[in-house]
Amino acid sequence: MSRGTLIDLLYLVSATTFILALKGLGSPKRARLGNGVAAAGMLIAIVATFFKQVDGHSLYHVSLIVVAMVIGVVIAVPTARYVRMTAMPQLVAIFNGVGGGAASLVSITEFVRIHSTHPATYVTLEVLLGVLIGTVSFSGSAIAFAKLQELMTGRPVTYPGQQVINGVMGAAGLVLIVIILATGQTALLWALLALSFVLGIAFVLPIGGADVPVLISLLNSFTGLAVAASGFTLGSNLLIVAGTLVGASGILLTRLMSKAMGRSLSNVLFSAFGSVVTASGGAGPDARPVRSGSPEDAGVLLSFASRVAIIPGYGLAVAQAQHVLRELAEELEGKGIEVFYAIHPVAGRMPGHMNVLLAEANVPYEQLMELDEANSELQTADVALVVGANDTVNPAAKDDKSSPIFGMPIINADLAENVLFLKRSMRPGFAGIENELLYNPKTTLIFGDAKDTLTKIVAAVKSS
Ligand code: TAP
Repeated sequence: MSRGTLIDLLYLVSATTFILALKGLGSPKRARLGNGVAAAGMLIAIVATFFKQVDGHSLYHVSLIVVAMVIGVVIAVPTARYVRMTAMPQLVAIFNGVGGGAASLVSITEFVRIHSTHPATYVTLEVLLGVLIGTVSFSGSAIAFAKLQELMTGRPVTYPGQQVINGVMGAAGLVLIVIILATGQTALLWALLALSFVLGIAFVLPIGGADVPVLISLLNSFTGLAVAASGFTLGSNLLIVAGTLVGASGILLTRLMSKAMGRSLSNVLFSAFGSVVTASGGAGPDARPVRSGSPEDAGVLLSFASRVAIIPGYGLAVAQAQHVLRELAEELEGKGIEVFYAIHPVAGRMPGHMNVLLAEANVPYEQLMELDEANSELQTADVALVVGANDTVNPAAKDDKSSPIFGMPIINADLAENVLFLKRSMRPGFAGIENELLYNPKTTLIFGDAKDTLTKIVAAVKSS
């Protein structure tokens, strides 16, 4: 077998691992394995590339490539290893942006190479699309990172005529591509690059901080397309397969996330959601009364239950209360009480957020129920323990047609006999709207940081 055939075979193995990895990532149980399989496939592809020959030449600048890889590893490994769970979306944003930037650089390099070696040869469409999409993904992801990292306001940044201006910029990018294809003018490449950079920023500015995870998934799919374009540019089937997989899965994930939020993708991208907070926060003189209790009251109620549904949300991640939550569940099970977790697909701030948090605390997968299953079980629960969730249990999504979350599927916590609501204040969740469940006669609010409150509840359960 020739060296070229062997390398192609290794690329095929590598592409297959990417497909298998996606299958693995489809379930929380196999997600870690899926990630491992993809990483192994990527390693095979990288090693094989070092032995690749093009036109009889081995890889150029091997030592420079190795230095760049070492720098990348030194920065990325500790960053990914020690990132806080709540900061994961911005890490994904920045990693994604780097991918888009790399794809754009490949296209620029190829453009310059073609022009310096064969000035009469016109570049092809994929090179220019690589520059446009890769750069939009790069600068858009950088703004997404800045919003989530609170380096700038997380609120939508809007100005008059914004969508029209963005539309004109997008159209101008396409016109530039047509002119470059027709005339081959190198100078216009830099204009395309600058325009794409500004477009990426302008596209992300009107999107509210908490919608940014959906946007990141979309930008991720852009990066995939830019990588696929690089694959065509470099004649690499592996890059085409990998880029297309990322592009397709990114767009599917974006659609799933929008659907689980009860909103259309255009509403997420263009409605500047989150610029207006509609809830009073319950702090004014007209604040409606709610029933509040102590962690000890909650401990007693839980100890006398026979079935408890735990509904985790974003506040669980903020409080980092996953370990003490598992401890509480184990205490209750020790008393013969059945416990299950009701997981909403967009609880938290990124896909699978609750699954990852609970897996970190070694909560058994068998106890996790997805939305529909959880809803069919909730009426048999004596207590629904809402830990840092809000929008995902808000009945307005079912009852109030004027609500911005109307149509979003929710976990029907109010079906349980009692609702214990753990949060710090009367402030709303991400959607910025009042939650009627807080005023439901079944509900008792236990105010405080979820970790502190749960620690006290565990003590109360132990002593009751
Ligand atoms: P949210 O509706 O955002 O509510 C979180 C709640 O946690 C708040 O009521 C907050 O109240 C409480 N909280 C915050 N820190 C806390 C702490 N340390 N201790 C106790 N409570 C704390 O959460 P959710 O129900 O998970 O809903 C997620 C929302 O994000 C949905 O609207 C969803 O559409 C949106 N979203 C999700 C995603 C993905 S993919 N998951 C992506 C983008 C947007 P206090 O401030 O009073 O404590």
